[in-house]
Amino acid sequence: MSDETSYHMTPEEFRRRGRELVDWIADYQERVGSLPVFPQVQPGEIRAALPARAPEQGEDFDAVLRDLEKVIVPGLTHWQSPNFFGFFPSNNSGPSILGELLSAGLGVQGMMWATSPAATELETHVLDWLVDLLDLPAAFRSDSDGGGVIQDTASSATLCALIAAREQVTDFASNDGGCDGSIVAYTSSQAHSSVEKAIKIAGLGCNNLRLIDVDDSFAMRPEVLAQRIEDDREAGLVPAFVCATVGTTATNGLDPLPEIGRICDEEDVWLHVDAAMAGTAALCPEFRSIHDGLEFADSYCFNPHKWMFTNFDCDCFWVADRAALINALTILPEYLRNEATESGAVIDYRDWQVPLGRRFRALKLWFVLRHYGAEGLRFHIRRHIALAQEFASWVDASDDFELAVQPPLNLVCFWHRAGDEFTRQLHQRLNASGRLYLTHAMLNGRYTLRMAIGQTHTEAEHVERAWQLMSDLATELAEGDS
Ligand SMILES: Cc1ncc(COP(=O)(O)O)c(C=O)c1O
Repeated sequence: MSDETSYHMTPEEFRRRGRELVDWIADYQERVGSLPVFPQVQPGEIRAALPARAPEQGEDFDAVLRDLEKVIVPGLTHWQSPNFFGFFPSNNSGPSILGELLSAGLGVQGMMWATSPAATELETHVLDWLVDLLDLPAAFRSDSDGGGVIQDTASSATLCALIAAREQVTDFASNDGGCDGSIVAYTSSQAHSSVEKAIKIAGLGCNNLRLIDVDDSFAMRPEVLAQRIEDDREAGLVPAFVCATVGTTATNGLDPLPEIGRICDEEDVWLHVDAAMAGTAALCPEFRSIHDGLEFADSYCFNPHKWMFTNFDCDCFWVADRAALINALTILPEYLRNEATESGAVIDYRDWQVPLGRRFRALKLWFVLRHYGAEGLRFHIRRHIALAQEFASWVDASDDFELAVQPPLNLVCFWHRAGDEFTRQLHQRLNASGRLYLTHAMLNGRYTLRMAIGQTHTEAEHVERAWQLMSDLATELAEGDS
């Protein structure tokens, strides 16, 4: 133990241990590509290696680091491995890790401007920067009626948008009286499950969520949306909320925002756009068409914690009319009253989110933006997309594999021509090899492999090795079967 009188870690020891831990992380970054991406452990194995009770006496930090190496590392899925191609990337970077550390070190609560002015103002400022960098509608800037806020996740952003829409459509009556079962929401059959979760939490009832059909590119069919809205109105229901997706989870499908936006505009329905991963691509002018039609959106979010080198959690969420959001979520107990709030001259982010407390997440985003610069970020986004497109061209040219759909950006969906069972077995063997990690989707009833390219340190060599491994294991599997 460090300080016998107070039990605290002294600043001197913190300095020393901090350096050791930063060294440990840097070493981890250097070796992570050589570790099996997916852990070969059985359920319960990690807990069995831990003492049943918390220590009565404080322990030396060396002992903690030893257990980190011995017990924890073997049970990790290495999301930061350059061979991680599963789900969507959840990448990080040196500057973001340092920003996170600093946020913990400062330990400020940014729930209101008055509880830490710099936390609020940096957040507002960085989100305005991003409006420009991504070329988002000016209505999202804080000097308009709108503005941005950092949420923990895209799930929270969707929930907040839905609650604002619910209150707007009921003229704030549902906050008082609850929902009467008449409010209806719409999203595509390919939307993320967080939309359904938001419906549950916001009390609309899952029966009031319409899953709209998609076309061959897995994008929402706007004419079906228009019809469902009309049917619901005829049935006396209240269409209130559409969640469109820019980059669906399974395939990166891009819902047609201009058409959906026009429908929402005519119908006076709140349009939320979830661009959790794909939104980052708009840093590059050549990919900005993914946001065509965003001028119709009432709210929008994307996750720097997916593909913009900012470690989890960090979702950027904008609204075009901040009053709608704030009025839906605000509560002002006596103990939070203060002069700055009363003056109306400041932003109090507690009114823009579900929790009251909030940490200083803008720091890591600020560090990332300043370290890479827009040019550095674009460089890596272009690189990832080019790698994915090249991978897709190999699949397309192959006699054994087939593309499930043309990849719009950095996610390639494909299967083996020998069928579902073969593709599933191949998938198992690939992940069991520890040399890469892939996840799957079911597309039109077919078992589909997803190759999501976006990990910070993924280079051409990793993608080439992955393709080689897929080809080799597929041949092995076919030979074993014959
Ligand atoms: C399109 C989409 N939206 C939302 C989410 C959920 O993100 P979060 O974990 O930030 O809530 C995901 C996660 O992969 C996603 O793909």
